[in-house]
Amino acid sequence: MKFAVPRGRLMKDSISLLNKSGIRIDIKDDRKLFFYSSENEIIFPKPMDIPTYVEYNADIGICGSDVLIENKNYVFSPLELDFGKCRLSLISDKKYKIRDLYDLKIATRHPEITYNYFKNLGINVNIIKLNGSLEIAPLTGIADAIVDVVETGETLRKNNLVEIKKIMDISAVLIVNRVSMKTKYDEINNFIDSVKGVLYEY
Ligand code: PRP
Repeated sequence: MKFAVPRGRLMKDSISLLNKSGIRIDIKDDRKLFFYSSENEIIFPKPMDIPTYVEYNADIGICGSDVLIENKNYVFSPLELDFGKCRLSLISDKKYKIRDLYDLKIATRHPEITYNYFKNLGINVNIIKLNGSLEIAPLTGIADAIVDVVETGETLRKNNLVEIKKIMDISAVLIVNRVSMKTKYDEINNFIDSVKGVLYEY
C-alpha cells in the first residue's frame, strides 16, 4: 500500500503510529521524501497537500482535521487519531471583539474555513492568504487579525498576540482513497483494525 505521511509537526507521531500498526518505516534522514519497503511505499508531502495526494495517488494518509475541512478533497475519513490535538483560532495584537473586524483584513492559511466562519456571523472580512509564520501579519500591519493553529500558545505569548476566539478543535485524522477503499478492501480494513488496536488497546 502507499501511505502519505505529513512532514512537520505530525510526522513523528504519524511514523510511530504506523510502525506500531505494523507498517515498518525506518527513516533517518528527514529530508528524504520517499521510503520503500518490500510491501509498502511511503511519501512525505507538506501537510496541506496530504488530502490531494490521497485523493489522486496514495491509498492512506494522515493529516490535520483542519486540512481536510479546508481542502474539501474527495477522500474517506474513517478515524480520528489521538495526536495532533490543537485548535484553530482568531488571533490579533489587539483585543478586538469579533464584530469590530467588519471590513478588516484577516490573514490565514485557511481561507475557506475563515470565509465560512465570518459568513455565518454575517461579518464581511477581506481574507489574505499566507503560507506560514502568520504571527508576523498583524505585527507588521498587513492584516488586522489572523486565523491560525494554536497548540501550546507559546508562539502567541512570545509575539504579544491575543487569542480572541477559538474557531474549531483540531486532531490528526486517518484518510483513505475512495477507490482504494473498494479495490484494496481487505488490506485497508486490516490496517484500520490494526490502528484501532493501537489506539484503543483492543
Ligand atoms: C503553527 C502555527 C503557529 C504555531 C503554534 O506553525 O502557525 O505558528 O504552530 O504553535 P504553539 O501554540 O505551540 O506555539 P507551524 O509550527 O506549523 O509552522 P509555520 O507557521 O511556520 O508553518
